Amino acid sequence: MTARVRVPATSANLGPGYDAFGLALALYDVFEAEPAERWTVEITGEGEDALRTDEGNEVVRSMRHLFDTVGYSGAASVRCENGIPVGRGLGSSAAAIVGGLLLGDLIAGSELPRERIFELASELEGHPDNVAAAVFGGFTVCWQDGAPHAARVEPGGGFAAVIALSDTALSTTEARDALPDTVSHVDAAFTAGRAGLLAAGITLGRSDLVAAGLVDRLHEPFREHLMPDIGATRDALVSAGAIGAVLSGAGPTVLGFVMAESDDDALDEALRVATRVAELRGRHVFALGIDRDGATIH
Ligand code: HSE
Repeated sequence: MTARVRVPATSANLGPGYDAFGLALALYDVFEAEPAERWTVEITGEGEDALRTDEGNEVVRSMRHLFDTVGYSGAASVRCENGIPVGRGLGSSAAAIVGGLLLGDLIAGSELPRERIFELASELEGHPDNVAAAVFGGFTVCWQDGAPHAARVEPGGGFAAVIALSDTALSTTEARDALPDTVSHVDAAFTAGRAGLLAAGITLGRSDLVAAGLVDRLHEPFREHLMPDIGATRDALVSAGAIGAVLSGAGPTVLGFVMAESDDDALDEALRVATRVAELRGRHVFALGIDRDGATIH
């Protein structure tokens, strides 16, 4: 039997929702696996020359973790068709983890609920925001109370993203190490208010609230020195028509928000914005729709 899953790219944080907000994007990795005598991995597309193809591969590690969790023993041959750029803040590692867990679940026949897949993926990733959006799709809000939880919220109205993809990668570890241990009460209160506005705006489809909410003081100001062109990139996206621009996850990619009556209209507008700013130095600019389905089994 061949197991086949498709997992979306994701953008975490969305500005003020540090380690809490996630948005699934219509750009995908597709993973396939069959039971085999020994572990093998083939990769095509993004990361084909850089990602590991031994047992340190993220998809294989996640499959093995699932097998250990449910008490299944075996190996598999794995194929990855990667559409998500690696190490740029678009959730490539979350996609690999979620893909590996779902492949493992299909091969082991364990039929774990999606909530359990999300918990296991959060443990492996170390933070829940990307994996929540990868598993459930749409807009997700995460919290922890000893265990990770996620609420999926249907974005109201039409959404699309303009992606200003950096030529260079940035490790999440380096970007997390750049954060201070504490922030001021003023900055915490500022960001809490903006996060509430943003979540309300996405849920209600209110572009005025989204525009006001896309500002952060918990992580972006401490990471900007790692991405010297960030100010010019944000300005270019907003001047071209995005309603706001934030770091995608820990960066270095920048995501511009576009809203309209429907997802199709928003994608048309995002394409126009991307065309206007395609000239940015050191960045490849393109439009993406949002994904409302999350990881799917084929
Ligand atoms: N919330 C995480 C961070 C996302 O900002 O470090 C990393 O993709």
